[in-house]
Amino acid sequence: MENRRVLLASRPTGWVSEDNFRIDTAPVPQPREGEVLVKNLWLSLDPYMRGRMNEGKSYAAKQEIGEVMIGGTVGEVIESKNAKFAAGDKVLGMLGWQHYGLSDGKGLNKIDASRVPMSAYLGVLGMPGVTAWVGLLDICQPKAGETVVVSAASGAVGSVVGQIARLKGCRAVGIAGGKQKCDYVVNELGFDACVDYKAGALNEDLKAAAPGGIDCYFENVGGEILDAALRRMNAFSRIAVCGLISQYNATEPYGVKTFQSILTNRIKVQGFIVSDRMELWAKALPELVGWVAAGKIKYRESVTHGL
Ligand SMILES: NC(=O)c1ccc[n+]([C@@H]2O[C@H](COP(=O)([O-])OP(=O)(O)OC[C@H]3O[C@@H](n4cnc5c(N)ncnc54)[C@H](OP(=O)(O)O)[C@@H]3O)[C@@H](O)[C@H]2O)c1
Repeated sequence: MENRRVLLASRPTGWVSEDNFRIDTAPVPQPREGEVLVKNLWLSLDPYMRGRMNEGKSYAAKQEIGEVMIGGTVGEVIESKNAKFAAGDKVLGMLGWQHYGLSDGKGLNKIDASRVPMSAYLGVLGMPGVTAWVGLLDICQPKAGETVVVSAASGAVGSVVGQIARLKGCRAVGIAGGKQKCDYVVNELGFDACVDYKAGALNEDLKAAAPGGIDCYFENVGGEILDAALRRMNAFSRIAVCGLISQYNATEPYGVKTFQSILTNRIKVQGFIVSDRMELWAKALPELVGWVAAGKIKYRESVTHGL
């Protein structure tokens, strides 16, 4: 048995290309005392990976060149020399872009795949879903009747943010790229409105979609979209800064023009990283599982087969 792996070969400047990666094969590792061998069945591809490819200081250690690319995985225990796991257990971990991974059990969690598909633990019931819950409910704390706006609204995080906002009695407005995504956000996910930022009238369309202004803005994108949202924020509104995806491949950072809105509207702005809030997972996950099982939160996955 061979272990097919994808390694980081070089650091990208701007957009990532295939040249930044190298595929190799290695013998399947053998677990030592205390270790578990896992066959990875699902790998999540997430925006944070782009930041890890960079040199320089961030909230987490950088991805080393020549090492297996970082990534959240769901798989099955093949062999266990750790008393907490047995062969056949389905587990969630961070075993990276490879078919087989070794773990000492730290950060490896058993999952119940009987009620929901295994892959959901990488999305709606995993890091992205919990991120939505933490940023919206712990940081923005929206009240019924308020308007919540979220960018990258059809994505893994944004789609859950808007649906939780609706469950809490708020007006949910998404911002997404293209008519097809906006139709999905409104017609399938049940948002009240969605602004297509690619349609060329972002400020006007956001004003029409949030006529009473914005009470909570869940930021996933940054750049011009952040400027448009800042123009519409209400007094004493809140912004949860979750991500700035428009900036991850940018070689020149975008300069925000409407920063003054934070002062004049007394806006509370807070950045957060979901892994800093592990104590909230135990509260968030059962709620998310309940909503998904009851069909109150819907999700879609984009699946690619093979590594
Ligand atoms: N703070 C945390 O702990 C944490 C945890 C998870 C994720 N995040 C952040 O949350 C954000 C969303 O993550 P996700 O997993 O939901 O991502 P995702 O499902 O991969 O969706 C990302 C979407 O962002 C939009 N986008 C990409 N480039 C853009 C640009 N230049 N301008 C505007 N929109 C752009 C695209 O949608 P459109 O086609 O609609 O443009 C894309 O489909 C990311 O910024 C990520 O880094 C943060």
